[in-house]
Amino acid sequence: MKSIFLAVAAIGASLLVTAQQKQPIYLDLSKPIEERVENALSLMAAEEKVSLCYAQSKFSSKGVPRLGIPEVWTDDGPHGIREEVLWDEWGGANWTNDSCTAFPALTCLSATFNPKLSLLYGTSIGEEARYRNKTVLLGPGVNIYRTPLNGRNFEYLGEDPYLSSRMVVPYIQGVQSIGVAACVKHFALNNQEAWRGHINVDLSDRALNEIYLPAFKAAVQEAKVWSIMGAYNQFRGRHCCHNDLLLNKILKGDWKFDGVVISDWGGVHDTDQAVNNGLDLEMGTYTDGLTTKGKFPYSDYYLANPFLKGIKEGKYDITLLDDKSRRILRLIFRTTMSPNRPFGRFVSPQHSEAALRIAQEGIVLLKNEQQFFPVPAGQYKKIAVIGENATRSLVIGGGSSSLKVAYEQSPLEGLTAKYGKDHIVYSLGYASGPAVYGREEPSKLNADSLIAAAMDVAKHADIVFFIGGLNKNHFQDCEGGDRQSLSLPFGQDKLIDALLKVNKNTAVVLLSGNAVSMPWVNKVPAIIQGWYLGAEAGNALADVISGEVNPSGKLPFSFPKKLEDNAAHFYGKISYPGDSVNQYYKEDILVGYRWFDTKKIAPQFSFGFGLSYTSFDLGPLSTDRLTYSKDDVIRVKFTLKNTGSRYGAEVAQLYVNDPICTVPRPVKELKAFEKVFLQPGETKTVELDVKVADFAFYDEGKKDWNIEAGDFMLQMGNSSGNISQKIKIVVK
Ligand code: BGC
Repeated sequence: MKSIFLAVAAIGASLLVTAQQKQPIYLDLSKPIEERVENALSLMAAEEKVSLCYAQSKFSSKGVPRLGIPEVWTDDGPHGIREEVLWDEWGGANWTNDSCTAFPALTCLSATFNPKLSLLYGTSIGEEARYRNKTVLLGPGVNIYRTPLNGRNFEYLGEDPYLSSRMVVPYIQGVQSIGVAACVKHFALNNQEAWRGHINVDLSDRALNEIYLPAFKAAVQEAKVWSIMGAYNQFRGRHCCHNDLLLNKILKGDWKFDGVVISDWGGVHDTDQAVNNGLDLEMGTYTDGLTTKGKFPYSDYYLANPFLKGIKEGKYDITLLDDKSRRILRLIFRTTMSPNRPFGRFVSPQHSEAALRIAQEGIVLLKNEQQFFPVPAGQYKKIAVIGENATRSLVIGGGSSSLKVAYEQSPLEGLTAKYGKDHIVYSLGYASGPAVYGREEPSKLNADSLIAAAMDVAKHADIVFFIGGLNKNHFQDCEGGDRQSLSLPFGQDKLIDALLKVNKNTAVVLLSGNAVSMPWVNKVPAIIQGWYLGAEAGNALADVISGEVNPSGKLPFSFPKKLEDNAAHFYGKISYPGDSVNQYYKEDILVGYRWFDTKKIAPQFSFGFGLSYTSFDLGPLSTDRLTYSKDDVIRVKFTLKNTGSRYGAEVAQLYVNDPICTVPRPVKELKAFEKVFLQPGETKTVELDVKVADFAFYDEGKKDWNIEAGDFMLQMGNSSGNISQKIKIVVK
C-alpha cells in the first residue's frame, strides 16, 4: 500500500516538474508582457488569430480557449456599468446582480474643473467594471462640443480641447489602474448624431489638430489608453473605423498607439478597408440578433471568415493579422492576464461618496440675484417644487449610456430630506413621454391642466424651485438623434412664464447635458445648471441649494443666446448638419468661446463661468521673466483670496492670445487652470507651469506645430468672459 502511494506520489511530482519545465513563456507572469505576447502569438494558428478580431456576442469577443487565453468582455460606459444584455441582442438579460452605481455624466465631471475628481471617477468606475469582470470599459468620450444640438454632448467633456485633455487623462489612468482597459471614443469627428452612420466630415488640418484631436492624443500619449473606438461617421471619404489617415497614419504612426482599435458597434463596412486601414477588433456589425441561426452569423463579419479567406489565399499579408492579434493579446495580458490586477467592488459606499462629490462640485450657479440661493432649512414655510426632472429617472434612456442602477435619489427626494416633508409641495408642471430608443413618444397628459395645477401650487408657496431641462428621450440628450431646437422642450418656457406670473420668487434649475435658450433669463432671480447628476442627484442638488455645499462648478461649454450665434450654425446647412452626404466645418478653429470672443458675439453664459456663495479676489498675476525662448516653461504666479464669509473654491483660468501671427488666432485659448479651495479670508499663492510650446498653432504649410516669435498676451480670469489680469511676454 505504502509503495503504491509512493509510486503515485512520484508520478504526480514528475508530472508537476514536466508541467513546470514546459510552462510556456506567455503563462510566466514574471516575464515582460511583450515577450509573453510574442510567445502566445507563435503558438497560434491563423484561425485562432482571426478569431480574436471579431465579436462572438453583442459585447464580447473570443480568447484562445486551447491556450487558456480569456475572452474579452466589453461594457458601456461611460457613467456606470451597463447591465448584462442578451447574448445576441441589445435587450437586458434580467440578471439580478448587475444594478450599478450611477456616476454623474461626463459634462458634470468636466464642470468640476478638478482633475483629481476625474481620477476618483476613473478609479471608482474601474472598480465597478472590475467587479463585474469586464475587460474593457467603453468610455470615456471626448468628442468636442461643437453644437448644442448634438444628442450625445452629455457623454463628453465640453468644447475645449485643453480642458477635455486635462480631464480625460486621470479618468483613463484611474480605470486602468484597476486592470480594466478604458476605450476612449469616438475617434474621430463624431460631433453630431444626425446621419452619424454615413455623414462625411471634412475640415481643415488645422481645426483637426488644434480642436478635435488633442484630447484623443492626450489619452494615447499621456494616459496610455489601452483601446480606442472608431467613430461611425466618415472623414474625408472613409469611415472612421477603417480610415487609413486617422488610424494608421495619425494614431498608430505619429502617436505610436500600441493598443486595440475597436469598431463602434456596426461601424465596419468593408473587409479590405478593415484589414488594411487600422481596425483591430470588429464589434456589432450586424446588430439584429445574430448567431448561426441568424442571417449574418458572427463568422460573416468583415474581419471573420472573409479575412481568414484573404489570409489563406495570400490576398492579405500575415503581418497585418499578426499586428491585430498582437494588440488584442497585449490588451488581454494588460488586463485579465495581468499578475497585478486589483480586485474591484460594486455599489460600495465609497462609490456613492465619489458620485456625490463629483455631482456637488460640478453643479454650476449661473445667476443669483439678491442672494436668492442659498435657501437654508427653516427659512421658508412652504417650498414649491415644480417640474418633471424633480422626479424623473435621468439615468435611464440616452442610448448606450443608459443604466440599470442600484438607486437614484431624485431632486424631490433630496429636497424633501433637506427641508422636511411638511415644507415641500410638488407639482409635475409639464410631462414628456417615456424614454424609447429611436422615436419620440409624447406624454398623454394634458399640458394646460398640468400648468394650471402647477400655478396653483406655486401661488400658495413662499418660494418656487422649477426643476426641468432636457431628458434622455429621443431628440433630447440621447444617442441616435440630435435635438431639433435650442429651446426647452415639453412646453417648459411657457410653464416658467406662468409660474413667474403667480410667484416672482421662482428659481430655475436645469438638469441637462446641453445648453438651452432662456427667453426668461432676465425675469428669474436665480438659475442653476445641474447636469445628469447620477445616483446622488437629490443630495447633491439639495446640498448646493441649501448652502451646505458652496457651488464651484464652471461651464465646460458656452451657452449661446440663440442657435445662429453658435459657430457651426452660423454657416448654414453645409456646416451643420451637412447636406446629408457631406459636411464641412466652416467655422474652422473657432469653436465655442474661441468663436464668441473672436467674433465679439456675447454668449448667454461664457465658457468657464460659474458663481459662488462667497467672493474671490484674483491677482496680481506675474511671471518669472518677461522674455522666453520656444522651449521654455513659464512659471506663472498669482494669488487668490476668499473675500467672503464662506468656504469655497474658485477656478483660475489662464488664456493665451497671440496678437500678431501669419494665421488668424483666437482671442483666447485656455492653456492652464487651477481650482483653489479657500477658507473665508484665506489667501493662497499659486504657481502654474505653462510650456511656451503649447502656444503653437498647427501650420498647414509645414504640416507641423509652429510658434512665431513675438508678443503673447497671458490673460487670467474666472471665465472666458471675465479676464481680470493680463501680462505681455515675448517669445524669441
Ligand atoms: C455607441 C457606442 C457604444 C456601443 C456599444 C454604439 O452605438 O456609439 O458608444 O459603446 O454602441 O453599446
